Amino acid sequence: MKFDIKKLSIEEKVTLLTGKEWWRLDSLDGKLPELEMHDGPHGCRRVIYTMENGKIVSRERFSSTAMPSLAVVANTWNTELARLDGETIADEFVEYGKDVLLGPGVNIKRTPLCGRNFEYFSEDPYLSGTMGRAFIEGAESRGVSACVKHYCANNREYDRDYQSSEVDERTLREIYLTPFELALEGKPGCLMTSYNPINGIYASENEYLMNILRNEFGFGGVVMSDWYGVRESGRAHRAGLDVEMPFRTDAYGQVMRAYEAGELSIETIDAEVTRLVELMEKARESRRNGSVKRTHEQRHEIAREIAEEGIVLLKNEDGILPLKSGKIHVSGSGAKSPAIGGGGSSTIQTDYEIRHLGDEIKDILGDAVTILTEKSIFRTNGKVVAGNRVPYTAYDADTVVLSFGTDATIEFEDADRTSLRLPKSMEDIIVETADVNENVVIVLYSGSAIDVSPWIDRVKALLYIGYGGEGIQEATARVLCGKVSPSGKLAETFPMCLEDTPTGSYRGNGFVDRYTEGVFVGYRYYDSYKKNVRFPFGFGLSYAEFEYSDMTVKKHSETDYTVSFTVTNKSDITAKEVAELYVKDVFSAVSRPEKELKGFAKIELAPGESKRVELKLAERAFAYYSVFQKKWYVENGAFEILVGSSSRDIRLKARVDISLPASEQVTFVVH
Ligand code: GLC
Repeated sequence: MKFDIKKLSIEEKVTLLTGKEWWRLDSLDGKLPELEMHDGPHGCRRVIYTMENGKIVSRERFSSTAMPSLAVVANTWNTELARLDGETIADEFVEYGKDVLLGPGVNIKRTPLCGRNFEYFSEDPYLSGTMGRAFIEGAESRGVSACVKHYCANNREYDRDYQSSEVDERTLREIYLTPFELALEGKPGCLMTSYNPINGIYASENEYLMNILRNEFGFGGVVMSDWYGVRESGRAHRAGLDVEMPFRTDAYGQVMRAYEAGELSIETIDAEVTRLVELMEKARESRRNGSVKRTHEQRHEIAREIAEEGIVLLKNEDGILPLKSGKIHVSGSGAKSPAIGGGGSSTIQTDYEIRHLGDEIKDILGDAVTILTEKSIFRTNGKVVAGNRVPYTAYDADTVVLSFGTDATIEFEDADRTSLRLPKSMEDIIVETADVNENVVIVLYSGSAIDVSPWIDRVKALLYIGYGGEGIQEATARVLCGKVSPSGKLAETFPMCLEDTPTGSYRGNGFVDRYTEGVFVGYRYYDSYKKNVRFPFGFGLSYAEFEYSDMTVKKHSETDYTVSFTVTNKSDITAKEVAELYVKDVFSAVSRPEKELKGFAKIELAPGESKRVELKLAERAFAYYSVFQKKWYVENGAFEILVGSSSRDIRLKARVDISLPASEQVTFVVH
């Protein structure tokens, strides 16, 4: 039975527009159903704050399943796993009686310095939005409301509460709004505005962006603020914010003053109250009908499966991987305790005991290997010392596996990195170990791109595992030992160095961060400006070899095509491959990127097996946002359809000529 909000007084309605304590909505003393929300995109983060008079007086933290970070989910390029990730986290929300899952974050990785990149999917809007939509569909399938965040252009943590993201309209549309537009197709119950202003107006008070959300993207759910992300509550609700989180003592007065001054209409208030009541009633239904579907062990297995498919093999010289036999030295900070997540509101406390990587390898390879670990004594320049320099047993090991990376003290919410390098001590150990042993394999965990230049040429293999959640150690061992072929691909470019990135070390002037690079973000920048990169967007090696052939492009209309091609596994092992589809506007009246991702598919192939892949291209795959026409626009002319194993490994090409009626064209461009 739907609650009739006419029964509510104006005082009750205004009360509802601000959260109750930290995680809840105000149920008006039981008149309305309870609703509780929690972070986050990496698991059911149960941190319980007790508040009194708007102040936190205590905090309790409980354990949950630590799922892989969204950056790792993106590196799987597997929408089924993204959906399974959202559904698995939601299953834990059902078990603990929580109603709203504060995630996924779909913010674009504009700079690898951003402290929260581990929490986001990609530098590409299509991949970000597609993975975000799948995650949302998974969560919503369990009756748990997802909350897509942070709307929008929140691409740094530095000065996030004040510094305005200054973005031109076309860039805003093509790069920073598209991930939300695509993710919203997954119909999340909620969306969260970001802390930062956009073009001088705070996201939580930004009528322009709220109108796009409601009137163009058709979002009918609840818009909540980020925590303490509202500057003035009357202005925020006038712009269309539904609820300010968390409870703030001044909020009620500011809203009531705006209402009494005629600055905030009862129609606006009623619309916001209606959406909140609908969300609360949805929560009540879900609590009544919801049932837990998975055990903690099953959730752990899913965490491992996702982590495994998110592992990216970046280098594998002389086929040193997979490991097979002999004396294998395993050490490094990650051998014992790899970072399974970054710092901040997405941090999950897990009870799962992460084992030593050497033990996991031994479990798989058994008597074929002798594992030497860092427990052994160390020797430097002939002197036997205990310490953290070259591991002694690295000297005569057949293969040395060093696991290093950043962690939650380096990549965390509310701050950005200032360097892309690993800690110097780690770089030194890698280089000095390579001095004494030529067979070094690096296992790298980090939330975002790392500048590997000091040591990459000294090692034979590099396996990038990201912040892979509680199942990462088993996943890493399984890939290292060839139980499964690596199938992850980079959703974020690894540049040669920080100076080569579009924004370099610049981070705004404290008031404004001007997005001067425009649409040229990530590979759109590196490819368009022909810049070398260390590892390109969409890149990842396999233990198998794949062949691409027989591409056909079927034209259904001027802007509607079906692209088909065959992928063949030329090796003697079963493996998965991600095939990527890019579109290039050959001649354009506006500056457009060298290529843009517009489709992808992940397929499993048995040895020698071939599969036909079919991908659709519709109008938006060819369009750019025309500012003067205020719409997405396809100009006539030639377009290249590119199919590849990465953005810089194009295997098949085709060309289509779009010829829409002249009456629909606004500019005549030499085709
Ligand atoms: C944080 C984050 C947001 C999170 C919220 C609640 O500041 O920006 O992602 O969901 O507050 O913890």
